[in-house]
Amino acid sequence: MANLRIRKPIDKLMAEADDSEKGLKRTLTAGNLIALGIGAIIGAGLFVRTAAAAANNAGPSVTLGFIVAAIGCAFAGLCYAEFASMIPIAGSAYTYSYATMGELVAWIIGWDLVLEYALGAATVGIAWSEYLNKLLDNFGWHIPFQWCHSPFEKMTDAAGTVCGTGIMNIPALFIILLLSLLLIRGTKESAFVNGVIVITKVSIVILFIGFGWSFMNPVNHTPFIPEATTYSDSQGVTHNYGGIMGILGAAGVVFFAFIGFDAVSTAAQEAKNPKKDMPMGILGSLAICTVLYILFAYVLTGVANVEDFRHAGREASVTYAINQYMTGYGWLAKLVTIAILAGFSSVILVMLMGQSRVFYSMSKDGLVPKIFSDLHPSYRTPYKSNILFFVFVGLFAAFVPGDIVGDMTSIGTLFAFILVCAGVWILRVKSPDIKREFKTPLVPLVPILGIIVCGAMIFGLGWPNWARLGIWMIVGFVIYFTYGIKHSKLNNPK
Ligand code: ALA
Repeated sequence: MANLRIRKPIDKLMAEADDSEKGLKRTLTAGNLIALGIGAIIGAGLFVRTAAAAANNAGPSVTLGFIVAAIGCAFAGLCYAEFASMIPIAGSAYTYSYATMGELVAWIIGWDLVLEYALGAATVGIAWSEYLNKLLDNFGWHIPFQWCHSPFEKMTDAAGTVCGTGIMNIPALFIILLLSLLLIRGTKESAFVNGVIVITKVSIVILFIGFGWSFMNPVNHTPFIPEATTYSDSQGVTHNYGGIMGILGAAGVVFFAFIGFDAVSTAAQEAKNPKKDMPMGILGSLAICTVLYILFAYVLTGVANVEDFRHAGREASVTYAINQYMTGYGWLAKLVTIAILAGFSSVILVMLMGQSRVFYSMSKDGLVPKIFSDLHPSYRTPYKSNILFFVFVGLFAAFVPGDIVGDMTSIGTLFAFILVCAGVWILRVKSPDIKREFKTPLVPLVPILGIIVCGAMIFGLGWPNWARLGIWMIVGFVIYFTYGIKHSKLNNPK
C-alpha cells in the first residue's frame, strides 16, 4: 500500500543537490538571481493586465489592487525565502512540500505549478504578440487579426459589430519556440541575455512614470473607487466592477504581475551560495517591483481612462496611452514597445526555465517520466523537457485567449503560495531543529496572513476560474494515481 504522506528526508535532498557532478551547473550569483527575479516579474502583468483589470474590475482603484497583491506576495515571499534558504534545490515549492507535507501534497503543488509557469509563459507570449503588432504598425505592416488571435476571440469594428474571428496566434507560438531553443542552449548564456533585458525594462518603467506624471488627468482618477456594479467585457464575460469586490478581482488579475519572484527559487541548484543568495534574490526583486508597479498603475490610469482600456486601448495599452495622450512622446511609445517586447521575452524565458526545473525534480523523484530529467550531453540542460513544454505552452499560446490563461496562471500560483505558507508553519512545528539560514518573521502570523490575503484574491477571481483550477487538479489526481504513485522512488524503493 503506497504511503501518500511519505516525506522526502531533507538530508537526502541535500545529498542530491551536492551531487553536482551529475546535476545542473552552479553558476548564478545573488545579482544574477535578483536579475532573474526582475526578469520574470516585470512583464505582461504590468503592461497588459493592468489595463484589463482597470477595464473589467476596478477602474483607477487597480492601484489598490496592486497594493493588495503586493501584500499577499510579501507574506508568501517571506515564506518562500525560508524554504529556499533551507532546501536550496531545484524545484521550488514542489521540493519544499515533498520534504514537509508528503508526496501527495508535493504532487498537487508540482502539478499546480504547471499553471504558474507553463500557462504564465503562454500568457506573456500572447501579450508579446499584441505589442509586436503595435511595433509593426510603425512600418505600415499589420498581422491580420485571425493570425494573431485565438479562435475564441472576435474582431469588432468601430460600431462594435463582430467582423471576424481569430484562428491561431502565430507570433505567440513563434516567441515560445525561439526562447525554448535559447533555454536548451544553457542557463548561463540565458542569464546574460536576461541581465541586459532587465536593465532596459526597468528603465522603460521609470521613463513612463516620469514623463507620464505631468500628463495625468485628475478626471480619470475620479471617483478613485468606482461604485460597485458589474461589467460585461467584449467576450461576453461578466465581472464584478467597482467597490471592494472590484479591488479584490483586480488584485487577483494583477497578481499576475508579481509572479516570478518565486521562480528564483527554482534556480536554487544553480546558485553559487544558495543559502544567502536565495532570500536576497526573492525579496530584493519583489521589493523593487512593488514600488515600480504602484507608481506605474497610478500614472497609466491617470493618463488614459477606463473607456480607452475597454475599447481602442484594450491591446498594447501602454503604447496606446502614450500615443493618444502624451503629445510629443511618440519616440517614447516606440521605445516602450521595443523594450516591452524584449522584456516579455525575459519573462517567458524564466517561466519556461522554472517549468522545466520543476519537472526535472519531479522526474528525478519518479513522479513524472524520466524524459523530463534527461540532460543534454554537453549543454547540461533538460532539453527534452524544454521541447515537450514548447509543444504544451505553444498550444495554449496559439489557441486560448490571454485573459483566460492569465487568470488560470494567477489562480494556480495563488494556490501554490497558500500551500507554501502552510508548509513553513507546519515545518516549524514538526521539525523546529532544522538549520534555517533565513527565518520567516512572526510565524505563524505571517503564514496565516499570507493564506488569508492569497485566499481573498482567489475569491476575487470568481467561479469560472475556481472551476478551471478544479478541473486541472482532477486531471492531476488521475495522473498521480495511475502513474506517479506506481513510479515514485520513495514509495517503490528497489
Ligand atoms: N510577472 C510576470 C508578468 O507580469 C509573469 O509577465
